[in-house]
Amino acid sequence: MRTVDLIQRKRDGGELSPEEISYLVDGYTRGEIPDYQMSAFLMAVFFANMTDREVSRLTESMMHSGEMLDLSGIPGVKVDKHSTGGVGDKTTLIVAPLAAAAGVIVPTMGGRGLGHTGGTVDKLESIPGMRTNLSVEELKAQLATVGLCFLSQTSELAPADGRLYSLRDVTATVESIPLIASSIMSKKLAEGVDALVLDVKVGNGAFMKKQVDARRLAQVMVGIGRRMDKRVQALITDMNQPLGYAVGNALEVMEASQTLQNAGPADLTRLCIELAARMIFVAKIAPSLEEARRIAEKNLVDGSAYKKFKDVVAAQGGNPLALDNFALLPNATGAREIASPRAGYVSLIDAEDIGIAANMIGAGRDKKEDSIDPAVGIILEVKAGEKVEAGSILCRLYYTKEDRVEEAAEKVEDAFHISAQRPEERELILEVVG
Ligand code: URA
Repeated sequence: MRTVDLIQRKRDGGELSPEEISYLVDGYTRGEIPDYQMSAFLMAVFFANMTDREVSRLTESMMHSGEMLDLSGIPGVKVDKHSTGGVGDKTTLIVAPLAAAAGVIVPTMGGRGLGHTGGTVDKLESIPGMRTNLSVEELKAQLATVGLCFLSQTSELAPADGRLYSLRDVTATVESIPLIASSIMSKKLAEGVDALVLDVKVGNGAFMKKQVDARRLAQVMVGIGRRMDKRVQALITDMNQPLGYAVGNALEVMEASQTLQNAGPADLTRLCIELAARMIFVAKIAPSLEEARRIAEKNLVDGSAYKKFKDVVAAQGGNPLALDNFALLPNATGAREIASPRAGYVSLIDAEDIGIAANMIGAGRDKKEDSIDPAVGIILEVKAGEKVEAGSILCRLYYTKEDRVEEAAEKVEDAFHISAQRPEERELILEVVG
């Protein structure tokens, strides 16, 4: 087989055989296919799409690119949750402890920032000392004691996704249904979970801008899971403004910590309760969804989920005191206020622009090898639907280097739309698939 022929066939709309897909994934994982050819292949998939047969094989090849975790020796139902990516989406940091506090075993593997969206692993690594590259032995031991672990991709679990993910991030090949579905499902299935809850984001800050595409992505992922005998549920949720108020790594850890102390933003809290409830329900810990919601709410209010978060941070080398004392987290050195140019209602906050602006000041990467600045980001002062006066503060940019602050400030100004009429309220949870 020649890689160039496979790129060409995909580019021209042809279908690849299972063997051809495995050849590409295995060759890339072993370092035999170079980044430039894989980039061309990803771009061909972006434009020419894939059949269900191709997506299933791509997922399987990526899943088998490393070890498959066998968690059967750990008692309890193993459930994970994954988001397709949004802005200000720190739900995993809250949902995983909420579910684990109810007895669900949660081996959650996150990603790094992708495109304009943030990544769970980058957020967690802003906690001093926190490590997410646990070995298989370490993660099994931690699941048996704490019931929860936060993992990043290693060379052991779904390494093909780790490599493809960072390549897609810098080659404009993220927003593709087959590539997102295979990325998410390969690493989740390699974790050895029994069930999975997916948060499929739709809107200006999501990779899927239209609900019909988000539904299709949800259906493809639910289908892959079903074919592998896993219980999978997907929620389609609104990403037409950042979730909560904080965007940026350490800033999001702070907001997650407040949310786990029942003092978080209403939208974030509501979504986290719903996602955790679905995990508790698919784990068969509660007989109904209503009962599962009640358990999740109780774990939030009585502090047991917050305690679980602190336990997992401590178990992974992080300083749990930083979750109470934010001075121990990385903090920015400069702040810039963005004021409303006129009075009116905030009709829209373009979440993609907010994510891009946060990346400009260092919250994300432009190139694979870039490092991020965990301290920087944006805190919204208002949300869509709120009334503002001329000169009211809309948000603050927190930075440590001045170089791109001006450019980022302009992007953020454009992100806020102010109108004379009060906008219609948007639903946060739009659909359930599976
Ligand atoms: N999350 C992932 O893990 N992969 C994607 O491709 C998008 C979101």
